Amino acid sequence: MKRWISMIMCGLLAVGITVCGSIVSAETSAEDTAEAAAEEAADETQSGKDVLVVYFSATGTTKDVAEKIAAITDADLYEITAADEYSEDDLNWNDSNSRSTKEQDDPSVRPEIGSDPVSLEGYSTIYIGFPIWWGEEPRIMDTFVESYDFADITMIPFCTSSSSGIGRSGENLAENAGSGNWLDGERFGAGASEEEIQSWIESLQ
Ligand SMILES: Cc1cc2nc3c(=O)[nH]c(=O)nc-3n(C[C@H](O)[C@H](O)[C@H](O)COP(=O)(O)O)c2cc1C
Repeated sequence: MKRWISMIMCGLLAVGITVCGSIVSAETSAEDTAEAAAEEAADETQSGKDVLVVYFSATGTTKDVAEKIAAITDADLYEITAADEYSEDDLNWNDSNSRSTKEQDDPSVRPEIGSDPVSLEGYSTIYIGFPIWWGEEPRIMDTFVESYDFADITMIPFCTSSSSGIGRSGENLAENAGSGNWLDGERFGAGASEEEIQSWIESLQ
């Protein structure tokens, strides 16, 4: 009889261990799933969009093109603003002493950014736009590209100007950034149409 009781006890113990084991492994796999979901969430942007349009615009022309690109590509928008905003006098290219002229004369100048930093987590493509100042990107664009890591991100420069092409601006930005897969840039005039912008975007694919 004693033997029977001890056999039953052993049986119950074995069942108990198996059940506990299953619970533990169920818990472990639930933890794994939660961890994987958290990792996946960290790879995603808050909006769930994976394209970002970054732009600086002193008088609204580049902003207009940036908004059209964002609408066409269903992208998020991020505006770079200067901590010390540019006044009309600052932008006077006829004045050799204006702030913009002096900044463009010195490639080492890095104007401070005023807008809150943006997280690039989850973005795979970034369109990066600016006006042409004295044939190049405004120095604040160099401040921006030197502040972020663009590893594994496709970087697509675009600019607006009165007549100049994009020149070496894209190369300058790529060199100063030191990371990212930079494509050739494109120049647009004021009031570029949605059709013109769309056909450029399609030409990139
Ligand atoms: C300081 C300064 C320098 C400029 N230099 C050039 C230039 O070299 N070539 C050009 O075609 N346009 C030049 N422009 C005109 C702007 O590139 C053009 O108006 C641009 O579309 C403005 O964009 P935004 O409104 O986004 O600031 C210059 C404008 C400023 C304010």
